Amino acid sequence: MSSEVVFNLEYLTRLEESARTLESTPQQRSEMMFKAQREVDAYLEQLSLDHPTGWVIPPKETQGQDKLVQPGQYQVQSGPNQVQSGPDRAQSGPDRVQSGPDQVQSGPDQVQSGRGPHETEPLPIQENGVSIDEVLRDFSRIGNEMEREGHPGHMAYVPGNSTAPAAIGDFLAASFNPYSLNVASCRRAVKMQQMIVQWVGRLFGYPSACAGNLTSGGTVATMVAMTTARDHKVPRSKDYSRSVLYLSELTHDGVAKCLSTLGMREAVVRKVPVDDKYRMDVNILRKFIENDVQNNLLPFLVVATTGTTDVGSVDPVPAIRAVATQYNMWLHVDACYGGFFVLCNSAKHLFEGVETADSIAVDPHKGLYAPFGTGLVLVRNGTLLRNSNTRQHGNYMQDQLTNPEDWNPEDLTFEQSAHFRAPRVLLPLQLYGVATFRDALQEKLELAKYLYLRLKGQAHIQVVEPVLSTVLFRIPGVSDNTNRALLREITTDGRFFITTTTVKGVLYLRVIIFCYRTHRQDVDVFINKVKDAVVKMELPEVEFCHAG
Ligand SMILES: Cc1ncc(COP(=O)(O)O)c(C=O)c1O
Repeated sequence: MSSEVVFNLEYLTRLEESARTLESTPQQRSEMMFKAQREVDAYLEQLSLDHPTGWVIPPKETQGQDKLVQPGQYQVQSGPNQVQSGPDRAQSGPDRVQSGPDQVQSGPDQVQSGRGPHETEPLPIQENGVSIDEVLRDFSRIGNEMEREGHPGHMAYVPGNSTAPAAIGDFLAASFNPYSLNVASCRRAVKMQQMIVQWVGRLFGYPSACAGNLTSGGTVATMVAMTTARDHKVPRSKDYSRSVLYLSELTHDGVAKCLSTLGMREAVVRKVPVDDKYRMDVNILRKFIENDVQNNLLPFLVVATTGTTDVGSVDPVPAIRAVATQYNMWLHVDACYGGFFVLCNSAKHLFEGVETADSIAVDPHKGLYAPFGTGLVLVRNGTLLRNSNTRQHGNYMQDQLTNPEDWNPEDLTFEQSAHFRAPRVLLPLQLYGVATFRDALQEKLELAKYLYLRLKGQAHIQVVEPVLSTVLFRIPGVSDNTNRALLREITTDGRFFITTTTVKGVLYLRVIIFCYRTHRQDVDVFINKVKDAVVKMELPEVEFCHAG
């Protein structure tokens, strides 16, 4: 049996002519891209619906009893006829790729051999080019070797999901390739970006005087915001070593990492404990600050999270704002995971107070299903962001006709010559409309609630009530290893990918429902897997209370 995953290159090879020379027109390339995109999308859709998540389950102490489905063991011939989606997709028809028992191999070797076949290195870079068929066939192996973040069973980390229009937006951006950070080079490209920034600003209730930028991700968005906070609150570098940053114990690890990039490695970091709802404890925050002020330290920045990565909990922004104002501190809100749930009526109230934050980081490559590499930073008082980033232009730029009235993105970030990121966000929003994203996110909130209620009814399972789309559960009264064994039992056939996390010293299995392909029938299959796994583990009867 071949282990290769193949996708249909027919259209691409027919269009090879238009791709053969550097001088092909954007129109030719965009025609090719549309067709290529259709194929890739069909291929990914089919992989997502019929095949495992691509997660390599970590080996356990006693190997040899596990079955591990290797994604690379499927031969997938995808074409438009073979792809079905929608509610009845669970019934696979005769034309569809069948994944049967003969395609599953088990044993310690497979467990250790990693994801996919890994039998080849990428096609080498050579003096003379090869055919597009060869290039794309080589590239298609990546489908074997990746965790499929767009898979309905991928419920780990914060999965990224891209859409076809976003890929087309990227293709067009790369084809036209405007310099998008200065109106003198392309006013429309700048306007596209500004339109997204202002739209996101309005979602959170920011005034039009806000400014911001698309960035490569949430961490870079946070870094741009923190740079502005530093410049505004700690203008003298000799104060860096007595400056204090306040996080909660559930703040994303990328935030503290930014300090060293900002040249503030010596700054003090305080991790504030969370309360019984996993929110920053504001009383303790206040005590920490009072103590630091007494010790001649300089509290300058507090980060609240609206959607913690581990739990999905939301910090009390209004109360944190009040403390920040009292001590003249900058308040940054990390809305990278949770931010776009603000679109949903049932979740809007969770974002009350965010409009008072000095800055916000949010990730379109999470909640707007943009491809990886799409973050967004907003600063409430745009002038502060501009003051932090405006620079003296090089002499080679002296003939550029810029108007000081224009707010150029290059003066609102440390980046220059950045990827033209706007189309990958704007095209899907324009094509689908905002309602499509709202509905998809609302569905995820409801599925998380549904999962919680169904698990709550199960014997042996303790579950934490979700605030957003993340659900934590565990078997109480047993060891962490028994809970890890439960995870292995649930995920062993590769249909679902979840992880554990440890919160307040307790190990939980963590499920995040975020992929737009995840629907009720997937959650039902998941619930059955949990039930079966628990039965298989033959646990003694225990008494416990539900958390959350
Ligand atoms: C709450 C939160 N903040 C920040 C980040 C970092 O974002 P990025 O990976 O886009 O840099 C994440 C990523 O999952 C997150 O969940």
